[in-house]
Amino acid sequence: MDDRLTRVLQLSDFEGLAEATLERSSFDYIAGGAGEEITLRDNIAAFQRRRLCPRVLVDVSKIDLSTEMLGGRVALPVGVAPMAFQHLAHPDAELAMARASVAAGAAFCLSTLSSFSIEEVAEAGDGTDAPHGFGRPPRWFQLYVHRDRGVSAELVARAEAAGYSAITVTVDLPVAGYRMRDLRNDLAYPQRFGNFPSTGSERPLIETIAGMNDRSLAWRDVAWLRGLTKLPIVIKGVVTADDAARAVAHGAAGVWVSNHGGRQLDRSLATIDVLDEVVQAVAGRAEVYLDSGVRRGVDVVTALAMGARAVFIGKAFDFALAVGGEAGVRRAFALLTAEVESTMALMGVTSVSRLTRRMVVP
Ligand code: FNR
Ligand code: LAC
Repeated sequence: MDDRLTRVLQLSDFEGLAEATLERSSFDYIAGGAGEEITLRDNIAAFQRRRLCPRVLVDVSKIDLSTEMLGGRVALPVGVAPMAFQHLAHPDAELAMARASVAAGAAFCLSTLSSFSIEEVAEAGDGTDAPHGFGRPPRWFQLYVHRDRGVSAELVARAEAAGYSAITVTVDLPVAGYRMRDLRNDLAYPQRFGNFPSTGSERPLIETIAGMNDRSLAWRDVAWLRGLTKLPIVIKGVVTADDAARAVAHGAAGVWVSNHGGRQLDRSLATIDVLDEVVQAVAGRAEVYLDSGVRRGVDVVTALAMGARAVFIGKAFDFALAVGGEAGVRRAFALLTAEVESTMALMGVTSVSRLTRRMVVP
């Protein structure tokens, strides 16, 4: 293993190394948040405010971290969140990210704005190096609904044909957030998309999104989306009980609690702070996922004990990709797996299904 990777001992160590590796504007695009970056910081602080109640004298010689995500088995309850343009981090981009997630037995969600296409990523990682007995973990496709609905219908059809097992529709980006670092750096957002023809020369993110995303998208459109596909629909970007209940009423199979890692509405709620109310509102009628601020094994265990089926991580995996390509992301997964396992052992809990709400206090 690359010498730098052996010195990475926790997920957050990748950030500084990525900063030293990447161009300023690419690093800031990945690392930054909207506005004053209050939500970006609060996502992490909110996890740190929680405390765990361990049980002792439990035989923890075997710990099972596996679970099911919409019927697909995973070895680890942590997936790769959809992230646009991973070639800004590394030339192998989503191919490396997808391969490393297979090797970890973890779910991978591909962004609409990926650098490689739906079909190219579908072929990356055949499952032969997945953990024993797991085969190929689930791969989901994340949809940004395009102003031209035909474009979106085609993306969904392609994802279904290529073997993706769920459609995650992201609903917290009708417009791009006000990201001060990108504005200051004059970030020129690439227009070479893996999934549709390039739209000319580089432009700021806000303009790119304004030209693509349908800001008229509303709850009534979930029925349209469901009509396009047999795949389960996951609604990503929910942070209130009301919206979680609406998502279920509109037929979502999954409710993904997210504030986009603090990149969209600054001063939005930290996700772990709203998980209780979302889980209550959903009341077992859909699976609940969470991202934004997950950095450590204890964060994963906290979210699962509070009712999340699994969590996703964005930035930390993109930094790992920047530092070491596929090997970097494999290292990130190895560290996380070890941390989650150690936390479970210290909690006296032998499988993720045995985690309960009472094990976490505010
Ligand atoms: C994102 N995110 C994102 N979400 C989405 O639905 N579609 C996308 O294309 C992107 N693009 C994207 C790019 C980059 C560089 C980042 C960092 C994030 C948001 C992502 O899926 C996830 O919600 C957050 O990254 C989770 O927070 P953490 O783990 O980064 O704190
Ligand atoms: C992001 C997008 C495009 O940069 O989702 O967060």
